[in-house]
Amino acid sequence: MKKVVFSFVLGSVFLVSCGPKSTAVTGPKYTSSEQLAQGKTVFENSCNRCHKLPDPAKHDNQGWIKTLSRMAPKAKLNTDQHQMVYDYLISVNKK
Ligand code: HEC
Repeated sequence: MKKVVFSFVLGSVFLVSCGPKSTAVTGPKYTSSEQLAQGKTVFENSCNRCHKLPDPAKHDNQGWIKTLSRMAPKAKLNTDQHQMVYDYLISVNKK
């Protein structure tokens, strides 16, 4: 019985941690060139479906936080992809 209770508790923790999360990106996190390259790929593949690929220089670092928090859910990015796209954009926006 104990085992059943334990696995139930574990299962709920798992469900909660893997549930839909709000994509909260509030600043830079990734800096390695692989992650930035991955961010670029996600950006180029996900952000041109509804409009032209935006110019990374369009926004400064603060501006991209706001715009991406509106666009990442539209592009159905998970938090990690959202973060990598953000880090890529601020690595090339020259602001
Ligand atoms: C499902 C469609 C859709 C996808 C996918 C999408 N966008 Fe948008 N985007 C819009 C619409 C609609 C607008 C105009 C209305 C608005 O600004 O909310 C817009 C406007 C913008 C703007 C101009 C407004 C501003 O704040 O500068 C930028 C920049 C932008 N999107 C960037 C992105 C990026 C980056 C991605 C990829 C993460 C993305 N979009 C993915 C629909 C989308």
